[in-house]
Amino acid sequence: MKKYLFCFVGLMLAAPVVSNAANIQHGRQLFESICAPCHGSNAQGNVGPNIVDQSVKKIEWALNNVGMMKPVKSSNPQLNNVQNIKDISAFLHTLKK
Ligand code: HEC
Repeated sequence: MKKYLFCFVGLMLAAPVVSNAANIQHGRQLFESICAPCHGSNAQGNVGPNIVDQSVKKIEWALNNVGMMKPVKSSNPQLNNVQNIKDISAFLHTLKK
């Protein structure tokens, strides 16, 4: 029993630090359904600019300040969740410039 408890605590500690494959996969899904129409399927740019490698901070800034993106935030409540923004950023970091 004790052994399992330690494993569990270990996972809890490791989880927020590392963005694992599941986070990246989740970020990809969010990106493809919400961002790709404007930023391109590989974030290479379309109506909006290339956003490969963008940080969590920059994404949050854009959602609050870019005119075309404000309605995107209000119609997709999952973008109010910081973890979701982190997942999108983790996915964007896997793409090549
Ligand atoms: C309706 C179209 C549209 C959608 C959907 C959209 N964006 Fe944007 N985004 C834009 C436009 C247009 C700009 C550039 C505005 C400018 O340069 O004035 C932009 C700018 C940005 C920037 C700033 C880039 C820079 O270099 O300054 C980031 C980061 C960004 N978008 C991320 C996202 C993410 C992440 C999503 C999905 C959650 C998303 N956008 C969805 C249109 C969109």
